[in-house]
Amino acid sequence: MTRCRICSGDVQKFLDLGEQPLSDAFRPADEIASFTYHLQMGRCLTCGAVQQLAEVPREQMFHADYPYFSSGSSRMREHFRRTAEHLMAEYCGHDGAVVVEIGCNDGVMLEHVARAGLAHLGFEPSASVAEVARSRGVRVTTEFFDADSARAHLGSLGAADVVYAANTMCHLPYLDSVLAGVEEILAPQGVLVFEDPYLGDVIAKTSFDQIYDEHFYLFSAQSVSGLACQHGFELVDVERLPVHGGEVRYTLARAGARPVRPAVRAMLDAEAASGLGDPATYVAFAARVTAVRDDLLATLTRLRDEGREVVGYGATAKSATVLNLAGIGPDLIDRVYDSTPAKQGRLTPGSGIPVVAADDFASTTADVAVLFAWNHAEEIKTNEAAFEQGGGQWLEYVPEVRLVGGR
Ligand code: SAH
Ligand code: TYD
Ligand code: ZN
Repeated sequence: MTRCRICSGDVQKFLDLGEQPLSDAFRPADEIASFTYHLQMGRCLTCGAVQQLAEVPREQMFHADYPYFSSGSSRMREHFRRTAEHLMAEYCGHDGAVVVEIGCNDGVMLEHVARAGLAHLGFEPSASVAEVARSRGVRVTTEFFDADSARAHLGSLGAADVVYAANTMCHLPYLDSVLAGVEEILAPQGVLVFEDPYLGDVIAKTSFDQIYDEHFYLFSAQSVSGLACQHGFELVDVERLPVHGGEVRYTLARAGARPVRPAVRAMLDAEAASGLGDPATYVAFAARVTAVRDDLLATLTRLRDEGREVVGYGATAKSATVLNLAGIGPDLIDRVYDSTPAKQGRLTPGSGIPVVAADDFASTTADVAVLFAWNHAEEIKTNEAAFEQGGGQWLEYVPEVRLVGGR
């Protein structure tokens, strides 16, 4: 059996999503990305941490060509502006406050901290996005955050009042080194705040596309509580967030430094009651994943046979898992619309579907658009209301396959 990356316990495999490419490796048509890995998920029988069975080297995923820009969604920009206000109001009321972010990407959160004049530092190894953060006035180092890099900055930065990470902690298999780094730079009363896709939502919605190379862990209050304990921290607060299909924001403090909010006990109890600790839950989840895969493939095949023009919307990292698991390529989905310039003119990883500019969707001839960016459904459907008004239909696959809208 594989050993848990958090506690060394036995990891029980429950899902095999097959051979997969790197989810963010969008390549020009004349270039073939050859790297693949076997995507499998398991659950630790000791600490409950849901994790991949093998690790993709971090330099393969995060580099100068990394094409995910956090500011691509107006709703997420608003979310991170409010997050910055919240972190500063809650933890930075004193002179000389310091904020550190792990995975600051294009500065979507830290730009507000920089603008408020607070001392800060973003760790962001992907130079493509780090450069944009810098242009927004954010102080960034392109080192991977871990125990060594954290220690190297302590002298110039001072102890951190907040270490924050969004959609990044779950990307880091080497959490022992990351937590050791946080332990070194955090002020005595400081907090580590991080938010990631929530295991409970992934199970409830069968959103298996949240599983791909970069998402090594699917956290729960149970697993994060165990992780905290191992490193002398304590889980002091949890909050569910309505972004990216359902996330939880975890707040950790040094053990005993801050009161534990009742929400922590409530979430732990709710997780136990909903069967998140029961192996049968994961067996049933895996069966639903297969059903969704088969249903999606059958629906796309039927639409093609009926002569309908099908496209995709949102060249997400998530879509790589769906497309490659189901063996869906350009024969079933003609092209994918996306607003990211770095993805346009390239092919979706593994599946080889051309990515085109989202601006062109206004004049699309498509009958059906598969909503790969389903986590941004509200924003996209509002912006593209003309598609449905003109008779177009959205094809969704979370939590189940269904055609929405149109005539
Ligand atoms: N916080 C942003 C970005 C999430 S994407 C948001 O929520 O939208 C994850 C980011 O983490 C990427 O930009 C990637 O380059 C970065 N990353 C990966 N490993 C890292 C590490 N060890 N330290 C800091 N950043 C890391
Ligand atoms: P997202 O779902 O945030 O993440 P991931 O790639 O990790 O699965 O990705 C959203 C993608 O959809 C991104 O490539 C930008 C694109 N997008 C649009 O094309 N139009 C939009 O209105 C929005 C919100 C996103
Ligand atoms: Zn474990």
